[in-house]
Amino acid sequence: MNHDRILVTAALPYANNPLHLGHLAGAYLPADLYVRFQRLKGRDVLFICGSDEHGVAITITADKEHVSPQAVVDRYHAMNRRAFERFGMSFDNYSRTSIPLHHQTTQEFFADFHARGILREKKEQQFYDPVAKKFLPDRYVEGTCPVCGSPDARGDQCEKCGSYLNPLELKEPRSKISGGTPEVRETTHWYFPLGDFQTRLEEYIKDRNTREEWKENVLNYCRGWFKDGLKDRAVTRDLDWGVRVPVAGYEQKVVYVWFDAVLGYITSTREWAAGKGTPEDWKKYWLSGQTKYVAFIGKDNVVFHCIVFPAMLMAWNDAHGEKYVLPANVPANEFFNYEGQKFSKSRGWGINVDDFLDRFPADPLRYYLTMTLPEYRDSDFTWKEFQAKNNNELADIFGNFINRTLAFAVRTFQGTVPPRGTLDARDTEMLELAARTPATAGALMEGYHFRDGLAEVMNLARAANKYFNDSEPWKTAKSDPARCATTINVCTQVARTLAVVMCPFTPATSERLWGMLQLTGTVTSQNWDTAGTPMIPDGHVLGTPGILVTKIEDEVIAAELGKLDQPAEPAAAPAVPAQEPPKPTITFDDFKKVDLRVATIVAAERVTKSEKLLKLQVEIGPERRQIVAGIAQHYAPEALVGKSIIVVYNLAPAKLMGQESQGMLLAASDASGKLAFVTPSGDIASGGIVK
Ligand code: 2FM
Ligand code: ZN
Repeated sequence: MNHDRILVTAALPYANNPLHLGHLAGAYLPADLYVRFQRLKGRDVLFICGSDEHGVAITITADKEHVSPQAVVDRYHAMNRRAFERFGMSFDNYSRTSIPLHHQTTQEFFADFHARGILREKKEQQFYDPVAKKFLPDRYVEGTCPVCGSPDARGDQCEKCGSYLNPLELKEPRSKISGGTPEVRETTHWYFPLGDFQTRLEEYIKDRNTREEWKENVLNYCRGWFKDGLKDRAVTRDLDWGVRVPVAGYEQKVVYVWFDAVLGYITSTREWAAGKGTPEDWKKYWLSGQTKYVAFIGKDNVVFHCIVFPAMLMAWNDAHGEKYVLPANVPANEFFNYEGQKFSKSRGWGINVDDFLDRFPADPLRYYLTMTLPEYRDSDFTWKEFQAKNNNELADIFGNFINRTLAFAVRTFQGTVPPRGTLDARDTEMLELAARTPATAGALMEGYHFRDGLAEVMNLARAANKYFNDSEPWKTAKSDPARCATTINVCTQVARTLAVVMCPFTPATSERLWGMLQLTGTVTSQNWDTAGTPMIPDGHVLGTPGILVTKIEDEVIAAELGKLDQPAEPAAAPAVPAQEPPKPTITFDDFKKVDLRVATIVAAERVTKSEKLLKLQVEIGPERRQIVAGIAQHYAPEALVGKSIIVVYNLAPAKLMGQESQGMLLAASDASGKLAFVTPSGDIASGGIVK
């Protein structure tokens, strides 16, 4: 494999919601850092993305707003594309899956699999709405959850308890289209035989993981799927919106959104090639066998990129001479939360990329997000940390070094780079660190360790500040002008190095610095490997210096924090009625039956495959118990450790999603859907009795 040609894809976001900061930290920023780094390394990189425009979520939005699905995707496609541009994403092509070319790509795959007898036709029972005269996809059926009794469970999943459901299991089902009771009728769907590929998929992942280390979270997720055994997967749906199934008799059905979404990467590459007048060029990246393919995603997409998509490509490759490249790596990040809770549109919790960029430039956000990326565990956006990273690191370390160097050159050397002269040990040490940094930071970037890569680059900026201080050019300007000249010459060389190696992280700032240094070309056309070599000649005339990084004032952050109490967007329909009817009166003796105690959370993690549940290890006095609580959408696990809670100590143990829960945590919720756990108002030791 030729590692000088790299195909990079970033998950196609649904054109159904505006992008928020969690999306950026999950897949998009890491992808862009990697691509910008690889371009500076001189590699032939193609960076592909686009909007995922099919699926039930989009038709449900369209129905709710009484507009066409096309109108929904047109709006969000334009919005998200612009948000990405403002954030500095450097895609080579940003396509969309509603275009005819994409329907063609998808139908080619589907028709090929169908003609070769790979797909299996299965009869099944499905809900049918006799009023709308339609079979209902799972999310078009609602009813009472068979697990927890919630009256508003969706056909695919119960929002309340997180259980994955089959619509036929719902009690009192109702159609989302007509509101009536659906009938069960027999219908047929096509299935992709994922199980047939299990052995090859396991070998594929093992093989790729020996060439470059895959992330443990990704491997674990795959192991879980393999352990359960891969099952046939339906690849058709009863919808009017999507890619039509290219099989006679199936005109009323569409291809399942995930089957077409992953093929969107291929479409986007084809569109890119056609757009530059060389329509066959997409094959260089996908079919030449000469490409390293890296697919960046958020962790909720692992199964589709590590199992479903590779299996589809294997199925195609089995019968065709030109073979598609499979991902060499699928770097997936964990989740990124907002001030301790999951981003949630319905609860108005979080901030959209566009709104953020109306208030702050992209680079401070890119810097902060890179330093906080959820590379190994969930992480959290906080306004205070955002301010601290910008002010104390980006401005005080990087910005300050540049400003003092350039200001000094203007004041003392008429805005030119003074002669280098003779280097002493300190100068040499400084230049050697600059020379080494591209290699050390580069090795980390190559291995997808972007946080550490940036930390390495910032160490250079930190060392440069120290060098400036220790060299005391303000003293040597009078006592030893040649020494002073050497110091400022070295500082200017290091400023150039920093412009190049900071470029993936803060591209606009690097470009501005390039302008202040008045160097030729653009910073993006420089070479990463030689970035540490002193190249600016003596006497070079510098440009006009300016403030490189602006600090963020406390008032600005206080204003953002003030908004946290008010939902950023109108909250969705209340999850519970505003005022629940009172329950029947109980006696004090009834109440005394409930044994409530104070507990301390010592560990917390998500329950696999559940959106709602967290598994907590708690201490209740000397005793340790496990409690499973439906609070995952409200709290990040790491934010809970050390907190005091109240538990029902004498509740019979129960199993939730296969996990034993030995008690229950008390929490309160209100009409807006907010939820907060109950905690003692003072310092009460764990085991304390609540009465
Ligand atoms: O999770 C999502 O936003 C999906 N739209 C990602 C699709 S990635 C690929 F298949 F296109
Ligand atoms: Zn439920």
